[in-house]
Amino acid sequence: MNCLSNKICTPEEAAELIQHQEVVGVSGFTLSGYPKLVPKALAKKAERLHQAGIPFAITLYSGASTGESCDGLLALANAVSERAPYQSNATLRKKINEGTIRYLDEHLGLMGVKIREGSLRAPTTVIIEASHISEDGKIYLSTSGGNSVAFLERAENVIIELNSRYGEKFIGLHDTFIPDLTPGASPIPLRFSSDRAGKDYIQIAPEKIKAVVLSDAYDEVKPFTQPDSIAIKIAEQILDFISYEIKKGKLHEGLAYQSGVGNVANAVLTAMANNPSQAPVSLFTEVIQEACLPLLKTDKLKVASGTALTLSPIAQDEFIQNIDSWKKHFVLRQQEVSNSAEVIRRVGVISMNTALECDIFGNVNSSHVCGTSMMNGIGGAADFARNARLGFFMTPSTAKDGAISSIVPLVSHVDHTEHDTMIFVTEQGLADLRGLSAEQKAKVIIQNCAHPDYREELLEILERGLKTAKGRHIPLDLSSAFKFHQRFLETGSMKS
Ligand code: COA
Repeated sequence: MNCLSNKICTPEEAAELIQHQEVVGVSGFTLSGYPKLVPKALAKKAERLHQAGIPFAITLYSGASTGESCDGLLALANAVSERAPYQSNATLRKKINEGTIRYLDEHLGLMGVKIREGSLRAPTTVIIEASHISEDGKIYLSTSGGNSVAFLERAENVIIELNSRYGEKFIGLHDTFIPDLTPGASPIPLRFSSDRAGKDYIQIAPEKIKAVVLSDAYDEVKPFTQPDSIAIKIAEQILDFISYEIKKGKLHEGLAYQSGVGNVANAVLTAMANNPSQAPVSLFTEVIQEACLPLLKTDKLKVASGTALTLSPIAQDEFIQNIDSWKKHFVLRQQEVSNSAEVIRRVGVISMNTALECDIFGNVNSSHVCGTSMMNGIGGAADFARNARLGFFMTPSTAKDGAISSIVPLVSHVDHTEHDTMIFVTEQGLADLRGLSAEQKAKVIIQNCAHPDYREELLEILERGLKTAKGRHIPLDLSSAFKFHQRFLETGSMKS
């Protein structure tokens, strides 16, 4: 690290390289592998400038959500004017919903492509957390792939946060292959979760590296919590359904699993790990969550392919201690590949994602509360749901102690249309929507998935739709479409 050692500087010095109104790209995806020290210093710089009456705010692009040291502190310091493509930070969310931060809620699999194609602005500076770098400009990433290749390809100025927690031990974890752009793009040469198509490093011109900041910070991931009884019930139904479909010969063994973010997704992997007769599985997913470690330890994980390894600090330590024997079970990819429609279809994926609300006709909202307030974003859910061999959307049947029904007459925002959804699961039951008409879907969703407190009114709304809707293809009673949401906004409860 001779020449590069001349570039070593403090986070504050690195933050000085970033200008007002710049598009800054950061590594990181779902709280893993993002820079922590430079964003923190940048937030302090912004506060100092604001106190002096000087404007300072950046456009912040990433792979997906980052932790408190990045998204949280920058939002708190009013240092972000625009954010894409996904977030899950309370401060940032508040400012998005107040309208003070512009938010581009993008499909995660398409963000990098859009930057490379030029339909989204390219970052001019990138801050990348690396596990190792070489004098000739090889960058070995840390715990996430994200959009780092796309960002590094386009940006002129590169700041590296070199995290000694990972070091050279992490070499070999990543497959940094990036697809061709259209027209005439070659197929992505991946058929199974374990396949690799590229190199384990990203090559850039070494002169692009303007600063190297030394770090040993953990990814700020909350400790893993065991799934609650509702999540366990949902997980059990999903696994029972899959084994029933396999027994009936409708589903082949050997499909890979994708599990989305959140409680219920973790519960499915935990249930698999706890099942002594579970055969070893592969994951072809976006976020490799902590719940995959019990699978690994019980010899039930063949390979986990994803773009992020999202582990709590205790699990990060455990992973590093065991890296030599565990590494062969993991491949971290760029999100253009982990979430590629083409590859998801070819691998054959059983996808499991969480909904905020589902409607009786099969549409899903996973991002907006009452149609207007952003929760996190669409994330990669549609990349998977649309292309899965078998796709589940799961949610507890109620939220906020029963005041909200997750099954509604019409979703207040559509992330996944009725054309892209297959199976809904709540703790009440499972609705297989494949091959059903709109009326049939409505009946089975209300009967199997809605909470008993809301079933009767949903049935009444359906009956009215069947009698009064002008077109009978979708028997929607327009006057009741948002009745539940309106009642919730007016009274604090969707109950009549
Ligand atoms: N209306 C309003 N609020 C609702 C709601 C509804 N229908 N359903 C749930 N909520 C609230 C919960 O009460 C909770 O509120 P709190 O934070 O005040 O406690 C919050 O939404 C989160 O719900 P929770 O049950 O804790 O869900 P989760 O952590 O499993 O996350 C999503 C659920 C949908 C927010 C999350 O999965 C998500 O962001 N999905 C979109 C992206 C995605 O699917 N990515 C994976 C693709 S690989």
